[in-house]
Amino acid sequence: MDNGEVLLKVEDLCQYFKIGPGNELKAVDHVSFDIKKGEVFGLVGESGCGKTTTGRSIIRLYDITSGSVYFKGQRICAGVRSYKDAIKQACLDYETKAAPYKGKQDEESLQAIARLKAERDEILLDQKAKMQAARYDHKNCNKLYAQEQVKKIEAEYAPLLAAETDEEKKAALLKEKNEKVRLAKKDRIMNSMQMIFQDPIASLNPRMTVREIIAEGLIIRGIKDKKYIDEQVYRVLNLVGLVEEHAGRYPHEFSGGQRQRIGIARSIILNPDLIIADEPISALDVSIQAQVINLLNGLREQLGLTILFIAHDLSVVKYFSDRIGVMYYGKMVELAPSDELFDHPLHPYTKSLLSAIPLPDPEYERGRKRITYNPLAEHDYSVQQPTMREVKPGHFILCNDAEFAKYTEEVNKVKA
Ligand SMILES: Nc1ncnc2c1ncn2[C@@H]1O[C@H](COP(=O)(O)OP(=O)(O)OP(=O)(O)O)[C@@H](O)[C@H]1O
Ligand SMILES: [Mg+2]
Repeated sequence: MDNGEVLLKVEDLCQYFKIGPGNELKAVDHVSFDIKKGEVFGLVGESGCGKTTTGRSIIRLYDITSGSVYFKGQRICAGVRSYKDAIKQACLDYETKAAPYKGKQDEESLQAIARLKAERDEILLDQKAKMQAARYDHKNCNKLYAQEQVKKIEAEYAPLLAAETDEEKKAALLKEKNEKVRLAKKDRIMNSMQMIFQDPIASLNPRMTVREIIAEGLIIRGIKDKKYIDEQVYRVLNLVGLVEEHAGRYPHEFSGGQRQRIGIARSIILNPDLIIADEPISALDVSIQAQVINLLNGLREQLGLTILFIAHDLSVVKYFSDRIGVMYYGKMVELAPSDELFDHPLHPYTKSLLSAIPLPDPEYERGRKRITYNPLAEHDYSVQQPTMREVKPGHFILCNDAEFAKYTEEVNKVKA
């Protein structure tokens, strides 16, 4: 999976919410990770740590504060705070450095001020360009994607058209190409990314039939052919284990598990590449949780889906995820392949999460000790702030130099 094509890349994502004057809540704070095509990436952490906010930011339900999100190679979200901060900092630095020379007329002082100004202006220019590019990409991602798709179709058909000597066949080919171009122009990159919500009751409009709910995406996309819409609705209903007769009914006529199936059907109708599943089973009865997980796993294989799977419980994501990211208070604290995370957790918060999972083994249960995580006692970040570092290939952890040394030692001990 390591060499796979990256489908989603989240880079330094920050989502800060204003809470009162001059006050911000850093719901997501400098989070980075990527998801490869075909992969299931689990995002876990306790309530309020920023999982939903991460998902909603990626799918553009919020404008992000800072950072970038790339999807299928195209930047779809970009925030400008970091560039603004860099500009502010450059101006402050200039004021501090230039202070001793201010008001002086000697050649040396004048030169120093000119040099510092040039230094500052270079940073300003660079950051302003980045800001402009970010705003442009954020605003135009769908248009840029459509242009890219059209270009690809043109490139695919150009040699075919050039090689075709039969006029009639050539005309047919041209018609085929033009139809593809017409649809591609309407294609939005965000159609390839869909979300399944935590609460299957609240997320389905009670006044709409199942058919209307599921078909909404197609209709928004400008598809009007009723027969085609029905075919697609029945196709996805079958995929999620429901039947055609269900299409005419209303959400309240279904059980919780069935409603979540309707939510899943809605999310796959546009043939997305990426599904963001935000705790899709936590509102469900334990007895049907496994069914929904199995359904998602089956769809992943059948449709080649890539899934960002959000959960607060590590045991749920263990078997389903290829890699897992652990979040704590807006930060990603550890990221590793699923087995690695369970077998060799390094961050004390991950260890605490793992210690909370009960196992169906009485012997183990008797000896199981819940580890509580106390960040103030665990970390001393007074000298140096932590950053995400790779302790061993594919295993990342939020730490500073001192902790990195400690974790590296721990890793080597395991190997020995
Ligand atoms: N629109 C908003 N405005 C202000 N604060 C918000 C907003 N949305 C979320 N928050 C806050 O951001 C933090 C992260 O919330 P989020 O919903 O992302 O957590 P979560 O990890 O999904 O939790 P849960 O497991 O309970 O779903 C919380 O403190 C929450 O109160
Ligand atoms: Mg949530």
